[in-house]
Amino acid sequence: MPITVTGVIARSKGAPVELVEIVIPDPGPGEVIVDIETCGVCHTDFHYKEGGINDDFPFLLGHEAAGRVSVIGEGVTHVAVGDFVVLNWRAVCGECRACKRAEPWYCFNTFNATQKMTLTDGTELSPALGIGAFAEKTLVHAKQCTKVNPDADPAAVGLLGCGIMAGIGAAMNTGNVGRGDSVAVIGCGGVGDAAIVGSRLAGASVIIAIDRDPKKLAKAQQLGATHSIDSSNLDEAGVVAAVQALTGGFGANVVIDAVGRPETWRQAFYARDLAGTVVLVGVPNPKMMLEIPLIDVFGRGGSLKSSWYGDCLPERDFPMLTDLYLQGRLPLDEFVSEKIGIGEIEAAFEKMALGDVLRSVVVL
Ligand SMILES: NC(=O)c1ccc[n+]([C@@H]2O[C@H](COP(=O)([O-])OP(=O)(O)OC[C@H]3O[C@@H](n4cnc5c(N)ncnc54)[C@H](O)[C@@H]3O)[C@@H](O)[C@H]2O)c1
Ligand SMILES: [Zn+2]
Ligand SMILES: [Zn+2]
Repeated sequence: MPITVTGVIARSKGAPVELVEIVIPDPGPGEVIVDIETCGVCHTDFHYKEGGINDDFPFLLGHEAAGRVSVIGEGVTHVAVGDFVVLNWRAVCGECRACKRAEPWYCFNTFNATQKMTLTDGTELSPALGIGAFAEKTLVHAKQCTKVNPDADPAAVGLLGCGIMAGIGAAMNTGNVGRGDSVAVIGCGGVGDAAIVGSRLAGASVIIAIDRDPKKLAKAQQLGATHSIDSSNLDEAGVVAAVQALTGGFGANVVIDAVGRPETWRQAFYARDLAGTVVLVGVPNPKMMLEIPLIDVFGRGGSLKSSWYGDCLPERDFPMLTDLYLQGRLPLDEFVSEKIGIGEIEAAFEKMALGDVLRSVVVL
C-alpha cells in the first residue's frame, strides 16, 4: 500500500517552499523506503528552488540525510530493515564507461529509484539529487543507502551525504592534497570549511581561508585554517597578492573554489603556484561565463578540475569518515549550526544567505 507522509517541495521557480502530503509507492525491485531522521539544508536545495539546476518542478527537496531502512523491495540484499544509513547520490552502476575504466567516482549511470513519489493528485515529484529527504520517509535505490556506524549522531554524519563530503573530497580526492602542501579555499560555507578540514586531515601545512564574511573566517580558523584573507574589499589582484604573501611569494599548490562564480574561479586560477591545481567545487549557474587569456592557461600549466561530489565513493568514504568522526578526528558536529523542524526550511535559506549558519539540519 502506498504511504502518505509530510514532505517539503518547491512547486515553481523562486516560490517559497511548501509543506505538503506526498505519496510514496511500495518499493519495487532494488528500491527501499528510508525513515529519515535528519536532513541538512544545502545550498544546492536553494539552487533547485531558484530554478538553477533544471526546470523539472515540483521538486521534493533535501538530500543530506541519515535514517533507517524501513521497507525493502524485491531482491534487495545491500541493506536490511533497521540498518542505519547515510543516503548518497552516487550509487555506482559498475557497467558504464567510467566504471569500466576503473574510475567509478565518475559513474555516468548512477542508480536512483525507478518509481516516482507523487503529490496526492498524482503529480510526479522530482527528488533533489535523486533523494528528496525533507520528508518523513523517502524512496531511493537500495545502493543509495550506505551503512555507517549507528553510534554516530545522524545530524552530523548525514552531512556526509552531500556538501561536507564534497568539500572533504575536493581536497583529498580531486585536489589530491598531500603532506606539506599549501592550500587556499575560497568561500568558507559548509563545503569550503569541509575542504579545510579535509586539507588538514591530508597533512597540508598552510591552509588559507578566503571569504567576504569575517564570521566565516573565524569559524574556518577554528576548523584548522592556518591563515585567513577577508576578500570583501579586495579585487582579484589583491586576493592573489595576499595568497602569494602567505606562500613564499608563489601561490598555493591547490586552490579550491567553493563559491562557483567566474570571479572566484579566476582568483583561484591566478592564486595558485605554477603547475598547481584549481578545484571547482562550488556550482555556477548556467548563465555564468568565463573569459581568460588562453596563453595564461598554457603558461601556468597544472590542472584545472571540477569536483563532482568530491569524487567520492560513498561505500568507501562514508564509513571511513564516520569512524574518523567517532574517533574525534573529524569535527562533523561543528558543521551542525542548528537543528530545526521541517517547517523552518525557508527561514534556514535566509540564514544561509546571511551567512549565519554552516548547516541547519532538519530533525524529522
Ligand atoms: N560539487 C559538488 O558536488 C557540490 C556539492 C554540494 C554543494 N556544492 C556547491 O558548493 C557551493 C557552496 O555550498 P555551501 O553549502 O558551502 O554554501 P554557503 O552559502 O554555506 O557558503 C558559501 C560561502 O561563500 C562565501 N562567498 C560568497 N561569495 C563569495 C565571494 N565572491 N568571495 C569569497 N567568498 C564568497 C559566503 O560568504 C559563504 O561563506 C554551492 O555552490 C553549492 O551548490 C557543490
Ligand atoms: Zn557506472
Ligand atoms: Zn548538497
